[in-house]
Amino acid sequence: MSTRDAKPAVRSLARGVVATVLTMVALAPVPVAAQTRTVWDGVYTEAQARRGQEQYKDMCGYCHRDDLQGGGSEIGAPALLGSIFTAKWEDGPLADLFVTIGTTMPQQNPDSLMPQVVIDIISFLLSANGMPSGPTELPPTLDALEQILVTAPPDQ
Ligand code: HEC
Repeated sequence: MSTRDAKPAVRSLARGVVATVLTMVALAPVPVAAQTRTVWDGVYTEAQARRGQEQYKDMCGYCHRDDLQGGGSEIGAPALLGSIFTAKWEDGPLADLFVTIGTTMPQQNPDSLMPQVVIDIISFLLSANGMPSGPTELPPTLDALEQILVTAPPDQ
């Protein structure tokens, strides 16, 4: 698509981060920063998750289903609910999910979503997976999302 380079898509954000991460890895194992939060710390707002749910129904639901159980496309979209989903992202930063969705979904038109739409949809996914909302919206910026870890529920 010829407009690809003009789009403020997640892919263009991601290039810088890959370079940054490689530099950090090359320098030293980076200890988990003191301010690192997890998805259980109330990292999105309820209003943001509601916005994300509308976007999800529009653009994702017909493959992943409105109830997130998956199976809606002929190729079999995976469930985005429960441990089958969260285990895949566990112990990584939320940035991984942001980059994956932003660059590979929706499957028939990847790399087309605005970063704000991606992060709102992620808020909905967190909400649907039982992670609590909080006072501040999730920002669509990789730096911030690198500081938020996906983990198993704290009481497990
Ligand atoms: C045309 C059908 C289709 C649409 C629309 C679609 N997906 Fe997908 N999605 C898939 C398929 C098939 C896979 C598995 C193959 C892959 O990862 O590319 C997948 C994989 C994923 C994964 C990785 C899940 C895992 O556990 O591996 C995520 C996250 C995801 N989709 C989110 C979304 C979101 C968010 C949207 C809406 C913006 C969306 N998808 C729209 C078909 C679709």
